[in-house]
Amino acid sequence: MNRLSHEGPLRVLVARAVFPDIIDQLRAVAEVETTLDDAICTPEALRQRLADKHGAFVTGSERIDAALLDACPELMVVSTMTVGVDHIDLAACAERGVTVTHAPDVLTETTADFGVALLLAAARQIGDAERFLRAGQWSKWSVDLFAGADVHGATLGIVGMGRIGQAIARRAVFGFNMRVLYHNRKRLAAPIEEELRASHRDLPTLLRESHHVLLALPYGPAAHHLIGAEQLALMRPGATLVNIARGGVVDEAALAQSLHGGHLGAAGLDVFEGEPRVNPLLLAAPRLVLTPHIASSSIPTRRAMAQLAVDNLVAVLQGQPPLTPVTG
Ligand code: DGY
Repeated sequence: MNRLSHEGPLRVLVARAVFPDIIDQLRAVAEVETTLDDAICTPEALRQRLADKHGAFVTGSERIDAALLDACPELMVVSTMTVGVDHIDLAACAERGVTVTHAPDVLTETTADFGVALLLAAARQIGDAERFLRAGQWSKWSVDLFAGADVHGATLGIVGMGRIGQAIARRAVFGFNMRVLYHNRKRLAAPIEEELRASHRDLPTLLRESHHVLLALPYGPAAHHLIGAEQLALMRPGATLVNIARGGVVDEAALAQSLHGGHLGAAGLDVFEGEPRVNPLLLAAPRLVLTPHIASSSIPTRRAMAQLAVDNLVAVLQGQPPLTPVTG
């Protein structure tokens, strides 16, 4: 028996603790192995648990690579409830005929809300101000107390103008009267640029012209440390950097140095290289808002992401085309 032809019951692993009412829908098409404690499997444990499965429901925390696939000869489909797929070796899946699906669209608006929230929190120093107040340090109103940068009317540079980048541009232009510049592998069609009032720039120009820079691009080798010391130095003095993409896009040591040196005004990070471990240099850096990879984390959106992942699994296991396959 192999992944192309199977007999008998189908088996699915749900690698993390996910809304049980949504996961129950899988039981109509497969035997389902779930986890009760939400622990992240070691690679070895994941290999053991997936070895006899036809389908995998995963999050961004489970790494799907060639070695794992070779240990799971019956695996037909990997369905991740994330939009990002940097934790999955797509070429290895394609070589072995394993379908990969992800969860785009359903998280766009929630993630865009969070991107703007992180920008506001960073530029207006909300994190530091709250800690200051809670620590009992507030003794008087002062002219320059946590005086940050304005967001409204400023220039926002968006790096990565996919669905989420565009949703952020809409909020920036129509909600905050901002001027939007963007950098993307592929330039947007003219009517979309016009609708979003967004102008394309090469990366160095975008960095030089923007008061605030927001990263919303997919992660891969080409995006690794796209923002390092050289790029940070190009940014305007006092500018804000926000990263809701993946931690690997930013050289964290260079970012911490730029904040310490006072060149960068502020930063907001929702994602980290090697998360959930956070680089101690970041923890010690000033004017930096840190959140634990929660940009898509509203209850309705997390439910919609899980539902789409289940719908994709059901479709593939029943021999139907997936709703949202990973392409390209
Ligand atoms: C995604 O969907 O890729 C997010 O980063 C997970 O929250």
